[in-house]
Amino acid sequence: MRMVVISGSLNPQSRSRVLARRAHELLAGHDVVAQWIDLQQVDIPMCDGTGDSKGGDVAELRQTIDAADGVLLAAPVYSFDVNAAVKNLVEQTGRAWTDKVVGLLCAAGGRASYMSVMSLANSLMLDFRCLIVPRFVYATASDFSDDRTEQMALASDDVSERVAELVAEMVRLAGTSSQH
Ligand SMILES: Cc1cc2nc3c(=O)[nH]c(=O)nc-3n(C[C@H](O)[C@H](O)[C@H](O)COP(=O)(O)O)c2cc1C
Repeated sequence: MRMVVISGSLNPQSRSRVLARRAHELLAGHDVVAQWIDLQQVDIPMCDGTGDSKGGDVAELRQTIDAADGVLLAAPVYSFDVNAAVKNLVEQTGRAWTDKVVGLLCAAGGRASYMSVMSLANSLMLDFRCLIVPRFVYATASDFSDDRTEQMALASDDVSERVAELVAEMVRLAGTSSQH
């Protein structure tokens, strides 16, 4: 089974990246070696709808996503949606997402933006027939230690449990789809 974990925040002190890291560690516990993509470390030009903008690391990212059975995507909520960097990744890699099992984790400022991943989920489902795992992780500032450093950690047992449940479900569903 091939899995990719994507950390989609461009904030060096990202909380959603803590969720992505935890998911990546938990996959190792399921004997799944997952690729790690941090959008802070790759070069993705802004999509302009032409092939001219598909330089940088876009071709390599497209291949990595295309080769995966499942993608765990961690994103910040910005303006009641995922951030533009994640949206741009999806726009630039497009059909590579076809038929993937996708799990979503997000960090938000408050509880009220709970539905913000739906626009991305709908687009992945309807454009690319992704199977969106109907279990997603939503965390706010109080779910993390407040050091905002490299050592920042998950402080909530409830969110830790949800990450574990999401990862287990990803492994189950992506395992099924990788046999087809
Ligand atoms: C430009 C911007 C827009 C934001 N919009 C929202 C929002 O609509 N709803 C919300 O709950 N939090 C919002 N936030 C707060 C972020 O979701 C929060 O800081 C989260 O931790 C970001 O994830 P990250 O730490 O992984 O970058 C926004 C933050 C920024 C910088």
